[in-house]
Amino acid sequence: MKKIKGIILAGGYGTRLFPLTIGTSKQLLPVYDKPMIYYPLSVLMQAGIRDILIITNGEHMSSFQNLFGDGSSLGLSINYEIQEQPNGIAESFIIGSKFIGNDNVILILGDNIFYGQKLKSYLEKAKNNLNDGLSTVFGVKVKKPENFGVIEYDKFNNISKIYEKPTKPKSDLIVSGLYFYTNDVIKKAKVLKPSKRGEKEITDINNIYLSKKKLKLIILSEQISWIDTGTYGSLINASKYFEKLEDTSGKKSSCIEQIAYEMGYINKSKLKKIVEKMKHSDYGKYLERIIKNDI
Ligand code: TTP
Repeated sequence: MKKIKGIILAGGYGTRLFPLTIGTSKQLLPVYDKPMIYYPLSVLMQAGIRDILIITNGEHMSSFQNLFGDGSSLGLSINYEIQEQPNGIAESFIIGSKFIGNDNVILILGDNIFYGQKLKSYLEKAKNNLNDGLSTVFGVKVKKPENFGVIEYDKFNNISKIYEKPTKPKSDLIVSGLYFYTNDVIKKAKVLKPSKRGEKEITDINNIYLSKKKLKLIILSEQISWIDTGTYGSLINASKYFEKLEDTSGKKSSCIEQIAYEMGYINKSKLKKIVEKMKHSDYGKYLERIIKNDI
């Protein structure tokens, strides 16, 4: 069984959120009570990934380093690389080639939020696919598919093709920003030609796997919430959603410190160190309740 590494792609300019993202990275903006990047990081952690690479633009890398350091406080190993320009999602595998080495890799976009009780079982399925030498994309049904990679598929969930931002979408099912790839994705990304808009397109990578019958589709049910937080509306909606969820369940979602503790990545004394730093915030007080076995 090959090891799996994780990459969070958190570069880009976030132009649709200007002026919010002129002075900072989109992935550091708040979504309810935590920076946006906590959400994709929590997905990798729930998939059991502890070796993580964060790719950012040069301007903001130090802010991410201030936030996570080397990841050891969460029982992780976090590395950093710079993407000079937003040259496309598939460039992640070239920038991250040394980091990935001979392993398989999960890529998640830094502005994609996935949440739900069943998420772990979907992640397990995709990991099993990797063990069978198959890559996986996750499909979600949306109202405006034309802004995404749109999936043409049959009733057995077999994909025939993925179309990048088509004017006339063939379905309302799109590829979300979470991808599980076998190690050969590095080779594929290296030889991939940029599209007309000058980007190494992840859709082209997916279509290559598809043509070799090496791509699986997992359609996420409605029990999984998926939010792409690229606009003012989706950003505020995501905050409201997670605030309400905490009100009703009494639990924080995508809480990386809690996940690290519950998955055994850190022990109580390491969690206490984190709480010490955050003791004046409600977030810190929540973590304190975990230590006291109150949650
Ligand atoms: P986008 O939302 O397509 O781009 P953006 O974040 O720059 O925003 P805008 O369209 O408002 O200018 O990117 C989706 C995610 O992928 C986001 O988390 C940024 C990341 N990304 C990169 O880091 N590098 C890239 O080359 C691309 C295309 C995306």
